[in-house]
Amino acid sequence: MVRTFCIANRKGGVGKTTTAVSLAAGLAKSGARVLLADLDPQCNATSGLGGEPQPKHPIAVGEPFADFLFQTNVPNLQLLPGCRSFASIEALTQDNPEQTKRIHEQLQQESEPYQFVLFDCPPSMGHLTQLALSASTEVLIPIQCEFFAMEGLVQMIEVIKKIMDAKPEKLEFGGVLLTMYDAGLDLTYEVEEQVRDFFGEIVFKTVIPRDAAVSEAPSHGLPVFDYAPRSRGARAYTELCMEILGDD
Ligand SMILES: Nc1ncnc2c1ncn2[C@@H]1O[C@H](COP(=O)(O)OP(=O)(O)OP(=O)(O)O)[C@@H](O)[C@H]1O
Ligand SMILES: [Mg+2]
Repeated sequence: MVRTFCIANRKGGVGKTTTAVSLAAGLAKSGARVLLADLDPQCNATSGLGGEPQPKHPIAVGEPFADFLFQTNVPNLQLLPGCRSFASIEALTQDNPEQTKRIHEQLQQESEPYQFVLFDCPPSMGHLTQLALSASTEVLIPIQCEFFAMEGLVQMIEVIKKIMDAKPEKLEFGGVLLTMYDAGLDLTYEVEEQVRDFFGEIVFKTVIPRDAAVSEAPSHGLPVFDYAPRSRGARAYTELCMEILGDD
């Protein structure tokens, strides 16, 4: 069965897109068929993989995704590009249960050829993130190791739990990921302790170090594995993939 990850955090700049792109590429390199759907109007995942933002978002138009899919440099990884204007899709889903149902059904149907589908979400818990959550089997929360890391988490979890309760199919906490981990800073350990105390076992053992190679890769349209295969960032994302695949 397809595993669908919603990569969400209402905070901006915590490593959602970086994680979505790296995880999608890593899973594809392990041999799985992977789809990354860009749901963020910033379209960072789209440009980071060398794709082109679309004039209308593919999930808003109601036509087959095949017309929009972009084959990335990674053989098994396809991208459903994003759109910079999301007015159409917000309008479509807002208080319109029929349209929301249509999109939801399409997302489920179009996920079938893949083993993994990942949604890169905007930094909010609004309609788009909720749509992705309702179409997902797992929610993955990247948390940046910084002073305000825990702020707003309780409200975010409330939204996630509400969707979990309303949804007939299973949605689980697929994991909490510590990103931009700087082993030279006391603050990093303080944040790690707080996050592990709060979330317990669902925090991944793997942490993602702060690494320039990770931040440079998207400007070359490449995942970190292809841009800097020996970097610490590439190694950490490989470990994360193994943890997710249960091979660690
Ligand atoms: N491990 C890392 N090491 C160094 N820089 C990183 C790392 N992870 C992410 N970054 C950088 O931090 C910035 C924010 O990362 P990213 O875009 O993945 O966050 P985001 O949560 O998707 O942001 P937004 O909420 O705006 O969508 C980017 O410039 C990215 O290159
Ligand atoms: Mg992003």
